[in-house]
Amino acid sequence: MASLRPTVLRSLPRLASASRVGASATRMTPARLTATATVGMRGYKSKHSPQPLRDVMTGEIIGLPDIDSSLVKITTTTTPKTRPPSSKLIFGHTFTDHMLTIPWSSATGWGTPEIKPYAPLELDPSSTVFHYAFTLFEGMKAYRQEDGTVRLFRPDKNMARMNRSAQRIALPTFNGDELTELIKKLVVLDSEWIPKEKGFSLYIRPTLIGTQNALGVGPSSDALLFVICSPVGPYYASGFKPVQLLATTKFVRAAPGGTGGYKLGANYAPGVVPQKEAAKEGYSQNLWLLGDEHALTEVGTMNLFVAFKQPDGTVELVTPPLDDVVLPGVTRDSVLELAKAHARGETTIPGLPQKLKVSERKLVMADLVNAEKDKTLLEVFGTGTAAIISPVDKIGYEGRDIAIPTGSDGLGDISRAMLDQIVGIQTGEIEHEWSVIANEPNA
Ligand code: COI
Repeated sequence: MASLRPTVLRSLPRLASASRVGASATRMTPARLTATATVGMRGYKSKHSPQPLRDVMTGEIIGLPDIDSSLVKITTTTTPKTRPPSSKLIFGHTFTDHMLTIPWSSATGWGTPEIKPYAPLELDPSSTVFHYAFTLFEGMKAYRQEDGTVRLFRPDKNMARMNRSAQRIALPTFNGDELTELIKKLVVLDSEWIPKEKGFSLYIRPTLIGTQNALGVGPSSDALLFVICSPVGPYYASGFKPVQLLATTKFVRAAPGGTGGYKLGANYAPGVVPQKEAAKEGYSQNLWLLGDEHALTEVGTMNLFVAFKQPDGTVELVTPPLDDVVLPGVTRDSVLELAKAHARGETTIPGLPQKLKVSERKLVMADLVNAEKDKTLLEVFGTGTAAIISPVDKIGYEGRDIAIPTGSDGLGDISRAMLDQIVGIQTGEIEHEWSVIANEPNA
């Protein structure tokens, strides 16, 4: 009986634990569940639509259905849109022909997944998403190779983070492997929309919102998970040209005990006015500081890396540690993992210094000011799914600018090496387990 426990748990979305979410599990199709039931399982599921898990002896409901990709209903569009040329794409302004929706309710669990023509959602004006910011999202990317292979980058990380965000605002959790399977089907269906040009990709936006029609503040009894896709080019109009940051003390992005470490919609709108203020002063993004020491946390909507030269010639690559004020970025983690493997001598990443130290530690503005004076400040860059790597060449702080060196291509040695490595993995040019194939090539 013990060996059957994971299967039973998979049908209990409200009981999903952080350690389970996003973990890879054997896909259990309804057919296999039915077969298992004959050898004494406690519950069973219908072959055709999500059903509650019932005790075979008493009929009592013992769990609600989780997301089940094998039940997906697919309706393809009869009016495909005209695809704009890649050169005309503006980040997040164009959407593909199809979307994925999966409803949830506390009474019936996750419903039937549907892939259908992209269309507006119909929501009651009292829906909790509109009033109390019951909304969270992910950013993922798909790439298409010449032979038609479609690849996702580390989808397990997005699924784990999405579940973590859901738990933080009492929205339902779900089986991340099943959602990944559905996202694969969606991006493969819309794969003609994935631009093939270098630096272009399909940006995937999984979103989960509370849809209960009620104005009381409490857990939403209804929710909707949807996924839309947008063909994109480089995030910044300036491509990989460096950005200028204004170290911001007037506004705070996140505070200890708050929600800055979760990918919630509510974290983003309050950053827009500070960004407009930074723009008025000639800077493109905010450098978010925290506390009296002016600890560095994030840049714009990205994680932050700084490289220093140490007296013995070692290069130290530093990023602020993960806590509830720093988002666990997938690109942040990728840079850390790749740089650490290089520093340990397990792999060699072309362009990275041989003597490299990788640190997750607190950084304060005084560290940057002193390093500029000592000429030991080598590089500053942001990391995020949308922009991947965003080099920085200037930080406005307390009335003056800190100058940061960059190469003639706008990148520094570390940011260039990291960008090349990550893009190589994402596009399949570099074989790596992080790149997950969504289809059979030429299928
Ligand atoms: C990302 O880089 O993944 C982001 O979240 C940026 C997005 C808000 C456009």
